[in-house]
Amino acid sequence: MTVKMNANKIISHFGETFYNALQAKLDRYINEWHLSELEQIDYYSVNCIFKCVSEIHGSCILKIGNPCRETLTEYNALREYDGTSFCRLYKADVQNGVLLIERIIPGSRLREITHIDKRLDIFCDLFANLHKTPSDKSLYPTYLGWVTRIAAYMRGREDYKTLSAYMDEAEKICRRLWDKYPGEMLLHGDFHHDNILLGSYCKYRIIDPKGVVGDRVFDIPRFILNEFEDEITDGFKAKYLYIIKTLSEKLNIPEGDILKLVFVEMCMAHCWNVESSRTPDIREVEFTKIMTEDEHYVN
Ligand SMILES: Nc1ncnc2c1ncn2[C@@H]1O[C@H](COP(=O)(O)OP(=O)(O)O)[C@@H](O)[C@H]1O
Ligand SMILES: [Mg+2]
Repeated sequence: MTVKMNANKIISHFGETFYNALQAKLDRYINEWHLSELEQIDYYSVNCIFKCVSEIHGSCILKIGNPCRETLTEYNALREYDGTSFCRLYKADVQNGVLLIERIIPGSRLREITHIDKRLDIFCDLFANLHKTPSDKSLYPTYLGWVTRIAAYMRGREDYKTLSAYMDEAEKICRRLWDKYPGEMLLHGDFHHDNILLGSYCKYRIIDPKGVVGDRVFDIPRFILNEFEDEITDGFKAKYLYIIKTLSEKLNIPEGDILKLVFVEMCMAHCWNVESSRTPDIREVEFTKIMTEDEHYVN
């Protein structure tokens, strides 16, 4: 069966070894899971994504990544969230990093909504009903665990001293937030614009949970990071403060705490960039730090 895909882009993003193993993997799941009409989605992040049709389940998404703990936590989180706003999980071969999930249709991303108030409304509506207590919290890392791990990693990077110092500061702030917000919910962990898709009846649905444990407040900052623009202009700063104020009012969390949550998440995001050999943007880290120091919000 021919599968529509962009070989060059797959090789340049996921590497040649991944590409060489891909065709055999596709053949295997086409046969075992009775799939047809495979077509790659033009999206290059962690996993290689294909639309397809399953004889049993209808329209599906086949998600193929490098086997890692994230596939297992995503699998466990999707199972726990079955029947909610999350997409359904149909099949999995976790050891090989492969999931077959419900395809959300039409599937346009939250990013495509041009008005900020509409994006915030949709985010808050989903957020309000999102979180469950995990059936077994030992299946997942904790949010604080993520923060402490990457902070320790950065201390070993002589070439990124400034960013590492920010990450140390972020860890301290995160520990204080961890004490103040002690909930132990199953978090999405990557709750942003490309993981919120339009489904039928104009209802937005959620995909791609990382599966991590912590208070629900730790699921807020990732969305705000995705609102960042290429440059930090005065216009952007006004938008940023508007987002913080609106979320604070709608979710009933102090603005100062949301600013701190964003700083922690921003540090972590750029340190993860360093870890995966991408260039971090220290300006974004500095901006979020300065915003936590505004005397109006310090509490
Ligand atoms: N269940 C789904 N239904 C429709 N589109 C999907 C689905 N899962 C993924 N996609 C599409 O593929 C993109 C990337 O999927 P995602 O699971 O977030 O990959 P990654 O793990 O690499 O971030 C999404 O933004 C969306 O456009
Ligand atoms: Mg994603």
